[in-house]
Parts: sequence; structure tokens; C-alpha cells
Amino acid sequence: MNLRERLSRRTMLANLGILFNGLIAALLAIPIVRYALSSVFPDQKMRWQSWLTLGSVDQFPPGQTRLAAFRNPHALQWDGKTADSVCWVRCINANAFQVFAINCAHLGCPVRWFPQSGLFMCPCHGGAYYEDGSRAAGPPLRGLFEYPYKIEKGELFINAGQLPTPGDPYARVDSTGDFQCS
Ligand code: FES
Repeated sequence: MNLRERLSRRTMLANLGILFNGLIAALLAIPIVRYALSSVFPDQKMRWQSWLTLGSVDQFPPGQTRLAAFRNPHALQWDGKTADSVCWVRCINANAFQVFAINCAHLGCPVRWFPQSGLFMCPCHGGAYYEDGSRAAGPPLRGLFEYPYKIEKGELFINAGQLPTPGDPYARVDSTGDFQCS
């Protein structure tokens, strides 16, 4: 094999390598670009504002707090089970509810409801919340986050697309050290 042939083979392999790397980079960039542009696309905006049903209000008897499941409104086809989520529904009376995020307001561990003590407890660092979601003890600086809800035709709907968290860009810490979200 002469020098010319060897050079052309080397050039061809180098070009193939560049092409292959470019292909991989393009594939990896798709989710990043989608994420970066997600707030621009109107359908994504709509999903943020969509109301999700938790089912019939009859599932939530007055005076009780029960777990309810829903699917994340931002879910994509390939998200599978990772898009399934849950929340705590407290029925005060037939027309008054509180729907709490499952995540602790400290670092996001899932809280559990203990009807015997009337407290939500966090297994991670001992955070505790009263039945109305307000902070009872432990490291959380505030109460549980709540979803806006509405009742239509006997079904309970929540607006789960824009739950504020301490990491929310619009969250501020006020003079008492509590988080305020607009
Ligand atoms: S995550 Fe719940 S107390 Fe820390």
C-alpha cells in the first residue's frame, strides 16, 4: 500500500469518526434543546396550566386525608412510570379540600400521613407537618406546598403543572425566613 492510499484511508476513517461523533452529539442535544425550548412551545405552556382529575370527590370522605395518584402534565410518551405522581388530599367538608404535594418542603422526600397522630411525617430528617399542612417541627422552613384545586361535576381537579418549590425562580425568602412564592 503506497503513501497516497494510506493517507486516503486515514482521511476516510477520520471523516467517519467525525461523522459518527457529530451524530452522537446531535442525538444527545435533542433532549437538551427540547428542554431549553419547552417554555416557548404553546402546547407545553398549555400543559403547565392544565387541570388534572383526581377522580370523584366521593373517594375523599370528609375529615380524612387520602393519597391520590395523577400523571405529570409535562409527561412525554417515553417517560413511562416516572411521570406518575401522587399527592395527599385532605377533605375538610364536601366543598373544601386541601391538596398537598407529596414532597417535603425541606429537601423533597415523600411525606407520609399518620392519622393516629394527625401529622405528616418526613422520613429523611424528621420534618413534621400538621393536618392542614402547616409546619409542626423539624428542618422545613414552611408548610407543605399545596396544589390549586376545583370541583366540577363531582370530580376533584388539581392544577399540578406549576407547583412552587423553594427552587422556584419566583420564590423569595421573607424577613422571617419563610419562603414566599408568587
Ligand atoms: S427532606 Fe423532609 S425533613 Fe429533610
